[in-house]
Amino acid sequence: MTLLCATLLGLAATALATKLEARASSTSSATATSSGSLPAITITGNAFYSGSDRFYIRGIDYQPGGSSSPVDPLADYSTCSRDIPYFKQLGLNTIRVYTVDNSANHDQCMGALADAGIYLALDINTPKYSLNRGDPSQSYNPTYLQSIFATVDAFAGYSNTLLFFSGNEVINAQNTTTAAPYIKAVTRDMKQYISERGYRKIPVGYSAADVSQNQYSTAQYMDCGEAQTISDFYAINNYEWCDPSSFSQAGWDTLVQQYSNYSLPLFFSEYGCITNTRTFAETTALYQTDMTAVFSGGLVYQYSEEGAGYGIVSISGNTVTPIGSQFSDLQSALNSTSNPSGNGGAQTSSGSEQSCPASSADWSISPFTGNALPATPSGAEQYFKSGAGTGPGLTGSGSQNSGGGSTVTASAGAGSATATYGSGSASGTSSASASASHTGAAWSLKSREAGGVGAVGFGVVVGLSFLFGAALMY
Ligand SMILES: *[C@@H]1O[C@H](CO)[C@@H](O)[C@H](O)[C@H]1NC(C)=O
Ligand SMILES: *[C@@H]1O[C@H](CO)[C@@H](O)[C@H](O)[C@H]1NC(C)=O
Ligand SMILES: *[C@@H]1O[C@H](CO)[C@@H](O)[C@H](O)[C@H]1NC(C)=O
Repeated sequence: MTLLCATLLGLAATALATKLEARASSTSSATATSSGSLPAITITGNAFYSGSDRFYIRGIDYQPGGSSSPVDPLADYSTCSRDIPYFKQLGLNTIRVYTVDNSANHDQCMGALADAGIYLALDINTPKYSLNRGDPSQSYNPTYLQSIFATVDAFAGYSNTLLFFSGNEVINAQNTTTAAPYIKAVTRDMKQYISERGYRKIPVGYSAADVSQNQYSTAQYMDCGEAQTISDFYAINNYEWCDPSSFSQAGWDTLVQQYSNYSLPLFFSEYGCITNTRTFAETTALYQTDMTAVFSGGLVYQYSEEGAGYGIVSISGNTVTPIGSQFSDLQSALNSTSNPSGNGGAQTSSGSEQSCPASSADWSISPFTGNALPATPSGAEQYFKSGAGTGPGLTGSGSQNSGGGSTVTASAGAGSATATYGSGSASGTSSASASASHTGAAWSLKSREAGGVGAVGFGVVVGLSFLFGAALMY
């Protein structure tokens, strides 16, 4: 769908690059207990695997309460246990959750998901603890890293934690690519944290808005430069297939062509256009061999109806009611579509990394160039060494203006600081820009929920979920 919103806040996530050789794994220091018996998913070449079988994401985005209210559906067993039977009925193997409370316990819900054969794709950010695309330097600070590392601690021990998103739609327009070095730095830091804490190699990567001017450049950027800064996967929020449509009409043929040499696993972190009548014909298309050489499935946006027309069920208290025929259409699309035989055309070698995109009218990462990244903010080193400690949860005071933002460029090798890139860029105007961005974000959300979802066709196609993180920022 098209949303002409210029919000400034975003979410971040990370992944482990398959190109990075496994570091010596030390004794796990996971604080969470392991649940269920689902095998941990691994990456080879450009695909996910469960043991020796290719793993395709058959998923749905799970955001009960919507983007405007930060609730953790996995902290409350009465919530997740109400919905898991429906996930099973749909034949899902993955859910995506956009916000969790890193001070809560998730054993019961993660165990119940594992029992149902379901993995979790988790956004690492919360509305209060996330990058601010309007002021990324200021918001990339130790308080922020402590929160996202605490979330890693909370979920690393579950074998059905499939992956972490280091960010979601932080780049949401042609002109917000200056946030890219920060997203990539967060990805790097999460990978380093996972490694130094001795966790298994849980994949970390970015979930990109479908912005035509920079979506592919962003993909290249997440797969260029030093190994420890390269994402483990790349995910796209894609709403181009609006029934009735086809592989070529939706532009999926072009997408596959464009990404044919991309060496990381790819999938749709959101899909499910609602223009015309949804029949989920694209779900069937997603698991055909013309897609599966390059893509590994996707997640429908979204499970519950939250006011914008994308839900397939409505929820009232403990009652879940399918909306129209969407639930059964998705169920039968998934059930009638088997995975391709063999490995579905995936590349089995790790492939070569991309060149970092050259700067252009559509790709500005100033004040950085090439593969230079911001240094890990000083004050965060202790977390790598000793763990993040207790997370702030959803009610903490937030990180975006908490100070200590990174103002230096990293040297070769992860995260260490060498040179300043411009004094004072993180200070001075920060509070003004933060409050301006917040106003814009809140306004955008209202405008969309009042019916502002337009038709597909513009160059900038931004999904809905980025609004979460914006609305309740302060
Ligand atoms: C990006 O462009 C939009 C629309 O032209 C404008 O409103 C916004 O201020 C710009 N943002 C930045 C960070 O330049
Ligand atoms: C993929 O790589 C081949 C061989 O290097 C090259 O000829 C082709 O143009 C590349 N395709 C894309 C879409 O980059
Ligand atoms: C479809 O449902 C049947 C009956 O529950 C099940 O045995 C089969 O594995 C399902 N097929 C797919 C592709 O999910």
